[in-house]
Amino acid sequence: MKRILFLPLFILFFQVYGVLAQEQIPHLKQVGNKYQLVVEEKPFLMLAGELGNSTGTTMESMEPVWPRLKELNLNTVLLPIYWELFEPEEGKYDYQLIEDLILEARKHDLKLVVLWFGAWKNSMSSHVPSWVKLDQKRFPRAISKEGELQEILTPFSDNNLRADLKAYQNLLRFIKEVDNSQQTVILMQPENEIGMLPSARDHHPLANQKFKEKVPGDLMDYMVKNKGTLNSEFSKIWKNNGSKMNGSWEEIFGKGLHTDEIFMAYYFARFVDKVTEAGKKEYPLPAYVNAALNRPDVKPGDYPSAGPLPHILDVWKAASPNIDFYAPDFYNPRFKHWNDLYVRQGNPLFIPEHNFDNTVAAKALFAIGHYEALGFAPFSVEQLPDEPLTPKEQKLAQVYEIVHQIKPILEANKGQNRIEGVLLDKEVNEMTFRLGDYEFTAEHTFNLGWEPNSGEDIWEPAAAIIVQTADNEFFYAGYGVSLKMKNLEKPNSRIGILKTDRGYFEEGKWKVFQHLNGDQTHQGRHIRSFIDDASIQRFTLYEYK
Ligand code: DGJ
Repeated sequence: MKRILFLPLFILFFQVYGVLAQEQIPHLKQVGNKYQLVVEEKPFLMLAGELGNSTGTTMESMEPVWPRLKELNLNTVLLPIYWELFEPEEGKYDYQLIEDLILEARKHDLKLVVLWFGAWKNSMSSHVPSWVKLDQKRFPRAISKEGELQEILTPFSDNNLRADLKAYQNLLRFIKEVDNSQQTVILMQPENEIGMLPSARDHHPLANQKFKEKVPGDLMDYMVKNKGTLNSEFSKIWKNNGSKMNGSWEEIFGKGLHTDEIFMAYYFARFVDKVTEAGKKEYPLPAYVNAALNRPDVKPGDYPSAGPLPHILDVWKAASPNIDFYAPDFYNPRFKHWNDLYVRQGNPLFIPEHNFDNTVAAKALFAIGHYEALGFAPFSVEQLPDEPLTPKEQKLAQVYEIVHQIKPILEANKGQNRIEGVLLDKEVNEMTFRLGDYEFTAEHTFNLGWEPNSGEDIWEPAAAIIVQTADNEFFYAGYGVSLKMKNLEKPNSRIGILKTDRGYFEEGKWKVFQHLNGDQTHQGRHIRSFIDDASIQRFTLYEYK
């Protein structure tokens, strides 16, 4: 009798275990009003960096890089896999490089975001294999308005789609085979900075044919269904042309370069969606697409047009349901402006590329604090791996270390309006925000004349994350920021600092290193750390009348 019972239980155990194993694939999870990347059933914040474009092409080139990534305190590397190296001959895949990279990343306790440099990399098709480059009849190119062939595969060709899709699918199949149980690869980026150049749209005969057809039903349905929540730039175009429900591209959106861009965005997104869908059928890792941001007052086609840019993100969302989110690359100073545009409609924020300048450490803090971002990555993070760390690299390493320490409190308070980020520089040297009953005013410490180099022209940006952990208890993690507080619910009371400790987290437990007071708190007036002091403080507040 016992034996008969045991067998079904045994089968049940394996069925349940199978389901659990399935659930453990890295995935996105909504927590309150934000998103988390979950890896091995635990929240994972990507303290990342992206490799320069050619660094990961051989293991020899990577040798000095691995220790450098650890010195910078990264937990994640964004690493391209190149179609030309992956499928050097049609149908013959070379898995060696990806396998070696995964194994080496594991040895260094690093996770990988795999960037598929497939059909498109920064608009161009420079990374497609030679058998694709050389057979332009079979793998047709986009054509400019002037009739010139471009080194850009047209997204309107089924051959182009099938070839790219097959390679990507094989890549995902292989990643699953070698990595399913270890989860080194946690996220995919199909293609890189898609965009149309030098005309706003492709003028290949296949494209011209599609341009004459009606706007496809899935885009129209999406627009109708989401009419009230479409991004304003996009809905305005539709409205200005009479909010029609049926018609050609120019009937629905009007004549002009903006319509060329909308049209291209739809077909680029359809292409990437099919590639991603095929990959997800093999191994459903989450996937995002990145964008080269456009400069204001530059026309579509003069900038790489039709990528997942804020003004056409609705088109991308309608046409690429297999993409989990869309991400901005920053070689552009307006950090808050663009991020505010990207987080609309609940798009989770991830910064896969930021020019590796002296602002990255501060912007990482701000992105993780203010937007509760999934992660942050300076571009070409390895730079000169054999040299000592430069000041901007040291700052990044310090910031990643303190963020790594405060992860438990970030996770516990995620998505509940209990986390804020501050980013200050010479122009924006003060900001206010609310956490619980308190209003905080954050100022750059240069502003207050306390720093030895206050008054100089160049202000290093300052930044901090503030987390509310109880009604009157907060953590500060950052540098160059001074905080003063008032209680908005008790306007007649004044607020003082009851206690401030500087410390660190060890295995998730808070340890006090120093009890701060006196000059360190400006005799009880402020919570602050100077520009060269990236550190963590826990503080409690009290009121007096
Ligand atoms: C953005 C691209 O996505 C990167 O691959 C790289 O080309 C940088 N631009 C510029 O170096």
